[in-house]
Amino acid sequence: MNDLQEKILKLKKERNALILAHYYQTLPVQDIADFVGDSFALAKLAQKADKDMIILCGVRFMAESAKILNPEKTVYLPSFDAGCPMADMITPDDVLSLRKKHPEAAVVCYVNSSAAVKAVSDICCTSSSAEKVVRSLPNRQIIFVPDKNLGSYVAKSVPEKEIILFDGCCPIHDNVSVKDAETVRKTLPDAKILVHPECRSEVLEFADYIGSTAGILDYARKTDALDLVIGTEYGVFDILSRELLNKKLHILKDNFVCADMKKTGLEDILACFEGNRPPIELPESEMAGARKSLERMVGIE
Ligand code: 13P
Ligand code: SF4
Repeated sequence: MNDLQEKILKLKKERNALILAHYYQTLPVQDIADFVGDSFALAKLAQKADKDMIILCGVRFMAESAKILNPEKTVYLPSFDAGCPMADMITPDDVLSLRKKHPEAAVVCYVNSSAAVKAVSDICCTSSSAEKVVRSLPNRQIIFVPDKNLGSYVAKSVPEKEIILFDGCCPIHDNVSVKDAETVRKTLPDAKILVHPECRSEVLEFADYIGSTAGILDYARKTDALDLVIGTEYGVFDILSRELLNKKLHILKDNFVCADMKKTGLEDILACFEGNRPPIELPESEMAGARKSLERMVGIE
């Protein structure tokens, strides 16, 4: 631990704070967190947090979800401009016009979205819960927003449903090409390729395992395979590189980095304790609608 990390750990104790970090955060940030997890785990941990203050090291929708699920707490996003480009691809009006076109359909909203979009949806999901959420609904038609890649993956896994997609995606995962996947398959024929479902369906065809960040970590830790190709953001590769010293790790694509996830520095976390970051605040009307969708998701697990 360096001096800044020690200082943050001391303040965390004194101020009764909980620090949560996503797996895509840098290792120095992950190292001072109470918990590191995927989007689903972080939402659940935030919901039952009993500390006064929650510092969510991730991107805006994660901190907003923490606030919505546990509104009594003061929630901070250390890097205030860490957003998610996919969340910015859709507006509540987009959802409402899809609802008009498909009045029988339920709206499933990936948590990588704004509170306002969650508020006009029926239920949220994460990459680790999407399939289960879709199966849990009585409707045959499902409007899935905003990630067309995760939506297509769910459509294949749950063929009894008709999935209506929105044209959004994670630019980082969508940028992996079939050529990238073909190259690793050719150069590393015995490697296991582990891919996040935010990647395109043509890329998922090459995968030995498809799952959330937590799922990929779990698979990598348990498999006997010695060569592993990580098909998600570099944070997961960094965690495994430090842990699995007997395995050879490869990344599916060079520069597989989410710039927004990497915006959180230790100084930003310190700034939350020093009163130099505004707490997350959302209009009560948006929070109430979004809470219904988030609580419904957390409730079906
Ligand atoms: P998960 O951690 O839920 O797999 O999500 C990945 C992601 O892109 C978060 O922004
Ligand atoms: Fe958004 Fe993709 Fe970054 Fe996740 S990895 S925060 S989905 S841009």
